[in-house]
Amino acid sequence: MLKDQDRIFTNIYGMHDRTLKGAQSRGHWDGTAGILGKGRDWIIDEMKASGLRGRGGAGFPTGLKWSFMPKESDGRPSYLVVNADESEPGTCKDREIMRHDPHTLIEGCLIASFAMQAHACYIYIRGEYIREREALQTAIDEAYEAGLLGRDACGSGWDFDLYLTHGAGAYICGEETALLESLEGRKGMPRLKPPFPAGAGLYGCPTTVNNVESIAVVPTILRRGASWFSSFGRENNAGTKLFAISGHVNRPCVVEEAMSISFKELIDKHCGGIRGGWKNLKAVIPGGSSVPVLRGETMEDAIMDFDWLRENRSGLGTAAVIVMDQSTDIIKAIWRLSKFYKHESCGQCTPCREGTGWMMRVMERLVKGEARPEEIDMLLDVTKQVEGHTICALGDAAAWPIQGLIRNFRDEIEDRIKSSRPASFIAAE
Ligand code: NAI
Ligand code: SF4
Repeated sequence: MLKDQDRIFTNIYGMHDRTLKGAQSRGHWDGTAGILGKGRDWIIDEMKASGLRGRGGAGFPTGLKWSFMPKESDGRPSYLVVNADESEPGTCKDREIMRHDPHTLIEGCLIASFAMQAHACYIYIRGEYIREREALQTAIDEAYEAGLLGRDACGSGWDFDLYLTHGAGAYICGEETALLESLEGRKGMPRLKPPFPAGAGLYGCPTTVNNVESIAVVPTILRRGASWFSSFGRENNAGTKLFAISGHVNRPCVVEEAMSISFKELIDKHCGGIRGGWKNLKAVIPGGSSVPVLRGETMEDAIMDFDWLRENRSGLGTAAVIVMDQSTDIIKAIWRLSKFYKHESCGQCTPCREGTGWMMRVMERLVKGEARPEEIDMLLDVTKQVEGHTICALGDAAAWPIQGLIRNFRDEIEDRIKSSRPASFIAAE
């Protein structure tokens, strides 16, 4: 279990003072100008060496992403955009950072922007996060007043402005290019990639889009050193990580832990175990709603990191761990996700626009036991036609939970069909 002194987020439960004074007393904004004084190359090399992988869900190496930004300006400004549009069902970790530890994020914005030669950074926050927006804006105002932002930020000689802007409740605006469209004042519709944002992002300029947690951990990594951060977790899965655990555990929580912690330790130490004991565990979605659901038995030996979960045909995603006990109607739970993705599809590509509706309707028939047995494979086939054939990852995200359901709970779907229809009727089909 991670020791308290190794936690980056020192106020995740809001027990301490979140103002600038409180943040400084816990070590934030300590020697920031000195870090900038070490130069851009040092910062990017250190971030690469730390092994930090993006905390928004995709796990792309952060230092590598920063290195895609142009070293020499071609006349276009560079931007950092922080994706605070946290909307993945089950995910509520960035919310805690912005509510209670906003200065870790603000300091990270300055350092990351400096490393990528961006004089401006935009934080795009989810529209429903009203209290978080207020807390963050108050902290930004404090930082300006103290000379930590603005002209000659922190006395570093670097001019830097930080803007907070909010979405209006569309999940798709968390997709990085839809987010950029929305920031530019248009409807949030994902762009085709490539070009990736580092080549042509906000207003066609070089842009890096990073998740809140990815940026908020930067100052501590640079203060304590890349090797400190990479000493946690397994190779390729380095560092500490916020896990958001919800569902049928005794004490749902958001907790910072070492990557590669076992699922059992995570749940027993921080959540007081599974409701009704481990025998009562039925299923787990280990990384937010976009990753496939796994059976409880698989999770009993699980290691919570990118590689183990991928090897076991799921994913770490946002590390939003949704725990379901034996009382759960798993078919209905996945149908509810299908409904969500259908609702949130922006509709610009056919496989997603039409496929999410198809998948939701067949899922509805499965829930009610109205489907014919052959519809299970037909549904699987539809998911394969959507997966990988769309502009953005929402299509995959809609397909994967259903694939996980069929792979791991096919027996339950078949039983539902059998028990809801007269045996003679099934035999006749
Ligand atoms: P992605 O794998 O396409 O990209 C990840 C990042 O790496 C992006 O910033 C992208 O620009 C960059 N990148 C990838 N390949 C690159 C290349 N060749 N050159 C330059 N840059 C490159 O994944 P995406 O679509 O950004 O994110 C999908 C994930 O987001 C899902 O796995 C899901 O878990 C997560 N998600 C998180 C949500 C949240 O609330 N935090 C909401 C919805 C989804
Ligand atoms: Fe829009 Fe869906 Fe296509 Fe993404 S996959 S661009 S959400 S229609």
